[in-house]
Amino acid sequence: MTNKTAIVTGASGNLGQAVVKKFLAEGYRVVGTVVPNDPVSFDLEDVNMEKVEVNLLNEEDSEKFVKTIIDKYKTVDAAVFTVGGFAMGKIADTKTTDIQKQYKLNFETAYNVARPVFNQMMQQGNGRIFMIGSKPGLSAKAGKGMVAYGLAKSLIFRLAELMNDEAKGSNVVTCVVVPGTIDTPQNRKAMPDAKFEHWVTPQSIADVIYFCCSDEAADLRQPIIKLYNQS
Ligand SMILES: NC(=O)c1ccc[n+]([C@@H]2O[C@H](COP(=O)([O-])OP(=O)(O)OC[C@H]3O[C@@H](n4cnc5c(N)ncnc54)[C@H](OP(=O)(O)O)[C@@H]3O)[C@@H](O)[C@H]2O)c1
Repeated sequence: MTNKTAIVTGASGNLGQAVVKKFLAEGYRVVGTVVPNDPVSFDLEDVNMEKVEVNLLNEEDSEKFVKTIIDKYKTVDAAVFTVGGFAMGKIADTKTTDIQKQYKLNFETAYNVARPVFNQMMQQGNGRIFMIGSKPGLSAKAGKGMVAYGLAKSLIFRLAELMNDEAKGSNVVTCVVVPGTIDTPQNRKAMPDAKFEHWVTPQSIADVIYFCCSDEAADLRQPIIKLYNQS
């Protein structure tokens, strides 16, 4: 049986690693992107895992990367774009350059791969795309003091709407996953007194993403999936 192919960006990140492991465990071939000279070592001994260095801020490189994968494996069945990052700052502290930084990290890194992947999925007639939103991207209230981050993430929701609108009538679906606080070493260090068990684990997010690619979830359309646990 031919493996299905999944692209996972930010493969060495907290969520990225969990998604890679889940899809490998379920028999997918996984192509994971890492930043050139990634300081985080991430090497999985799995014949179905391919690690590719690509700077997703470069549109041409991102497009070339996706084209290489299509040439090699013919289809892209699932794509999970986990690259993103966070910044604090009220309006008084937020300059245009701060917004641009967050826009690039949270939106451009997704858009640069989403566009060629979406085009491919529309041609092949099926596929599932996952982009990662956040509460501050969903509502301005939740984004108080996180102006640049909230604005950047809000575009993810709008992009998913536009993609789902263009894909109406096909079996190509873009989902926005909205995690609450993810249980990561960085968050534990930053919030040592928090109730970690109230957070959402990267593994449980990966499980839900995988479920959305399964036959059982075939009818899902335009999903915004809030995975908050108690956070
Ligand atoms: N953590 C939370 O509590 C939380 C809550 C809500 C939403 N989210 C969202 O969930 C997603 C995953 O979060 P996470 O905690 O797993 O983040 P993470 O561990 O920081 O992972 C992000 C990954 O993206 C990579 N990356 C950064 N810039 C890149 C670029 N230009 N090209 C290619 N790769 C690049 C990073 O590589 P390097 O580390 O090597 O730079 C890292 O491996 C993000 O979109 C985040 O905004 C997180």
